[in-house]
Amino acid sequence: MLATLHARARDSMSADPILGDRIAEDLVARIDYDFGRFRMHRGWTTGVAIRARQLDTWAAEFIGRDPAVSVLHLGCGLDSRVVRLDPPSAVRWYDVDYPDVIAVRRRLYPDRENYRMIGTSVTDVRWLEQIPSDRPVLVVAEGLLMYLSEEGVENLVGGIVGRFPSGQLMFDAVGRLAIRLQRFNHPIRAAGATFTWALDDPRDLERWDPRIRLVTQLTAPDLPGLERLPAGYRLMIRALRLVPALARAGRLLRYEFSRPPGGTGRDEGGSAR
Ligand SMILES: C[S@@+](CC[C@H](N)C(=O)[O-])C[C@H]1O[C@@H](n2cnc3c(N)ncnc32)[C@H](O)[C@@H]1O
Repeated sequence: MLATLHARARDSMSADPILGDRIAEDLVARIDYDFGRFRMHRGWTTGVAIRARQLDTWAAEFIGRDPAVSVLHLGCGLDSRVVRLDPPSAVRWYDVDYPDVIAVRRRLYPDRENYRMIGTSVTDVRWLEQIPSDRPVLVVAEGLLMYLSEEGVENLVGGIVGRFPSGQLMFDAVGRLAIRLQRFNHPIRAAGATFTWALDDPRDLERWDPRIRLVTQLTAPDLPGLERLPAGYRLMIRALRLVPALARAGRLLRYEFSRPPGGTGRDEGGSAR
């Protein structure tokens, strides 16, 4: 989470920011940590900023249609999404991460109306019982699911789809190739993190649970904003189109789900564990 925070701060400090996250910049200045160890390069900074901006756009679309929703921002780390989007107070927003991360977050972010931080592992799905199940839900998981086991992701997705009447899930996922190539991803290595869950076929989630439908998938070359990369990176990304396995190494995905008419939700009919 410190690597992605640092990337957003670097974007904000640049002459022509993509996300312009001033809070990330402020937090990096306040946190006593050797951020230089990530050896952040322009490709990473731009990639993180583009990913965050796209998820912000999708989240704002969802909330903009009807603010009477709950937002579960999973693996929130120190990300300022709730401040960037500044949702109306009708939105119930939950920032969720491990307890030690939430303890740090509480020291850095003030309270807001209808805003809660929950310290838990997301895969221990009992935490979902704290969220009222009467509203549609938006789930945003940025830079999270690739660090979980497949069983953990299936449990989490099954728990969410079983509990809420309808909603959207939006997240980034890596393919198996990215897992094989992760030793070349310096910031991930420097953070001591390991990719474990790969999603090569986004339709797998539809097979886990028939209530889920894939709405949008963007591979790296499709992402709006790539023209902001230096020429060398742009060329590399364009070349990705020629090698489908590489293009699929990272994706941004948006799904929706809804309960069948007359259904009560709670895990009937679905195959998700
Ligand atoms: C790469 S960071 C991304 C943080 C944030 N989304 C961002 O973009 O800056 C991954 C985050 O997921 C959290 N995380 C990883 N596994 C988790 C789990 N099982 N339960 C809750 N949080 C988890 C980490 O603590 C970390 O904050």
